[in-house]
Amino acid sequence: MIKVRVPATSANMGAGFDSLGVALSLYNTVTVEEISDGIVIENRHTKEYIPTGENNLIYRAMKIVFDKTGYRTKGIKIIQDSEIPMTRGLGSSSACIVAGMLAANVLSGRKLSYAGILNLAADMEGHPDNVAPALYGGFCAAVKSEGKTLAKSVKLEKPIVFEVMIPDFYVSTKKSRVTLPDKVSHKDAAYNAGHAALFSLALATGDFEKLKVAVKDKLHQPYRAAYIDNMKETFDESYKNGAYAVWLSGSGPTIVAMCSPENKEFSNNMNAYFNINGHKRTCRRLTIDNVGAIVQVY
Ligand code: HSE
Repeated sequence: MIKVRVPATSANMGAGFDSLGVALSLYNTVTVEEISDGIVIENRHTKEYIPTGENNLIYRAMKIVFDKTGYRTKGIKIIQDSEIPMTRGLGSSSACIVAGMLAANVLSGRKLSYAGILNLAADMEGHPDNVAPALYGGFCAAVKSEGKTLAKSVKLEKPIVFEVMIPDFYVSTKKSRVTLPDKVSHKDAAYNAGHAALFSLALATGDFEKLKVAVKDKLHQPYRAAYIDNMKETFDESYKNGAYAVWLSGSGPTIVAMCSPENKEFSNNMNAYFNINGHKRTCRRLTIDNVGAIVQVY
């Protein structure tokens, strides 16, 4: 039996569109065993609908590894225990893909390296900014270049918390990308390149005061704001309550505020603000996961 635990992730982090991501302390755990025949999929924890046949995301990810490594299995049983809310911009699909691929790699004799799994996972997901931190943990920069995905992860040791403001509505990444323009100006592209570079260095070195400026983005959030209810108000209120940096998590609709752990009233204040103003969001405090995916074999 193989058990894989994979963290939630928050991608883009403002200016780092399709490139930056961070692993968070919320997990999907997947248990896999080979059986004599067929596919059995059990779903625990979440009440959301999860396919239980060949179209199940974890199974599809496993199949990619089996095909790549030439492994043949008679049957597979998958038990999904999913804490990460689906289609909220917290990397639930990346967590399933990484979990399935890591489990399948163990079954097929560990033929693939983590770099190989990163490549397959980023190809399946379409973008590397969630799968890289899901696999490696920490704060990651990742790019797809000439058909390969390359990522670098660093642990964030200085105390920091991630206040995750999850709405009770969802938006699919596919729909959310449709709102983005085909072309942007050279000025906007250069703006984001500079801000993403500053954000990475400031975050990695613990110079958090610079993040409020460095997190600013002109490539995706301004376009996506139109369909994320109360996005600007939530950003403004988060800064009023002392956040270092605020961003739309992945393609949304979750909004993440990075705060000092000393800022103990942030969640209470934001939840009170959401209640009073009728915003359908709940704020919960997470920390960084500096470990990434964990595989246990029984
Ligand atoms: N970078 C992606 C996006 C995140 O913003 O659409 C979701 O994969």
